[in-house]
Amino acid sequence: MANSANEIKRVVSRAITDARKEIGGIPEPPSQAKLKWPIQCTVGPGLEGAIACESQVGFVNGSQGSLVYRGYDVLELCGHSTFEEVSYLLIHGRLPTEKQLRKFERKLADFRRIPATMRLLMGFPVEKMNAMSAIRLGTNMMRQEFTHLDEMEAKRDLETAISTDEDSIPMEVPPLGEEHAIYEFRKGKIARTAKSEKAMAEAAGIASAAHLVAGTATITAAVARIREGLLPLEPDPELSHAGNYLYMMTGRRPTAAEERIMDIALILHADHGMNASTFASLVVASTLSDMYMSISSGIAALNGPLHGGANERVIQMLEEIGGPEKVRAWYKKQKAEGKKIPGFGHRVYKRYDPRARILGPIAKHLTGRSAGAKRLLETAQELEKVVIGDLGPEKGIYPNVDFYSGLVYSCLGIPSFLFTPTFAVSRVAGWTARVLEYMKNNRIFRPRAIYTGRTNKHYVPVEGRKS
Ligand SMILES: CC(C)(COP(=O)(O)OP(=O)(O)OC[C@H]1O[C@@H](n2cnc3c(N)ncnc32)[C@H](O)[C@@H]1OP(=O)(O)O)[C@@H](O)C(=O)NCCC(=O)NCCS
Repeated sequence: MANSANEIKRVVSRAITDARKEIGGIPEPPSQAKLKWPIQCTVGPGLEGAIACESQVGFVNGSQGSLVYRGYDVLELCGHSTFEEVSYLLIHGRLPTEKQLRKFERKLADFRRIPATMRLLMGFPVEKMNAMSAIRLGTNMMRQEFTHLDEMEAKRDLETAISTDEDSIPMEVPPLGEEHAIYEFRKGKIARTAKSEKAMAEAAGIASAAHLVAGTATITAAVARIREGLLPLEPDPELSHAGNYLYMMTGRRPTAAEERIMDIALILHADHGMNASTFASLVVASTLSDMYMSISSGIAALNGPLHGGANERVIQMLEEIGGPEKVRAWYKKQKAEGKKIPGFGHRVYKRYDPRARILGPIAKHLTGRSAGAKRLLETAQELEKVVIGDLGPEKGIYPNVDFYSGLVYSCLGIPSFLFTPTFAVSRVAGWTARVLEYMKNNRIFRPRAIYTGRTNKHYVPVEGRKS
């Protein structure tokens, strides 16, 4: 890729300026006044409209078409921040100081190495598995690297733990049996206070969050290589998270431009309100299962074509259409058959998705030099025009984040089976941040279903049943 990092910077700042003009100023805050539980709200099927919890992690303003992480416009973060910093922001709730950021980056660099998980993962027929299942398996196995969590649970002496903070939990250090390895133990019995328990749980949660943010990229890149008959690569401590992800996947150190594009794509996908995969993670966490199990549920939910799976389908669709001149006829047929167009529409956005406002111009910039990619882009642009013309203002159907992300990923050399996994590599930051937040005021999820079946049937032995 002949683009320089400066060119990408220019493309992104132009896209941000254009997006701001369209969106109109800074993101508008939610209209909700101070909440008082229990809340009255209108609930539709699939819990549409239901309010599950309060959150300060992020906000999607669907009518304005804006997205905020912890108070910061995602457009601004795209222009200036990095995925590492955004992950810190989401998980810790504030932007880090320089020192905190460097420390967090070092922690991610440490956590990116997950040799025990890799050894286990390579014992499975990963090349024959659905990539998301393989990644899910890997993140579950990462839990075993955090053996001290289990040992802590088993150790009676835990009652003597008096203090901890997030940084006192190292990885891959035999934690118990070695005094001071993780917790400081005092001689004699010390009352286990609610405060110390809370601090321990929070510290373990934050450490697991960073572990998962770092490790999911390593696992995903390894899955990509194993599927191609190659051995996984160790991370390069000199590269950023985005750079490492590309390097561990392709075996080639990315250019500064490629690294920055990946970084921006990761920032854009890091959090998005109470979507299905985030909700799945929270539901599992609410049972007091652990962070690893919760994130693996998020990955499972993201796999579906109505959620993260759409970006892969977009590329298949653009290839199937075959060129911009064929778009109208193709769309007419889809519409007549009542089919939805992948990469369009959103439960919350009834305007253009702000993430697509950044990824679209990046895709345009990247595809300019390859005839095949250019044709796909032209097909996409024509389809966008036709769909918005037909369904935009009337039904609020506009391109969503998945419409252009696949094109961007293709240009970065990411194979299409890794598009949805790449979404997971980023979203793990939002999932973990929201799980940590929810656990502060946990209440197990338990909605109701309205039973519409009968209650007056009588059991008939199998030989007496008619078909
Ligand atoms: C994302 C999505 C699941 C949101 O769905 P939703 O909020 O439940 O919206 P609905 O499915 O109820 O659709 C509402 C109306 O818009 C139409 N619509 C929604 N998405 C559409 C699409 N992608 N193409 C064409 N029409 C669409 C529906 O047909 C429906 O029309 P109707 O009122 O005449 O029945 C849906 O837009 C979709 O399936 N999009 C394609 C998959 C995709 O890109 N997913 C990634 C999301 S980030």
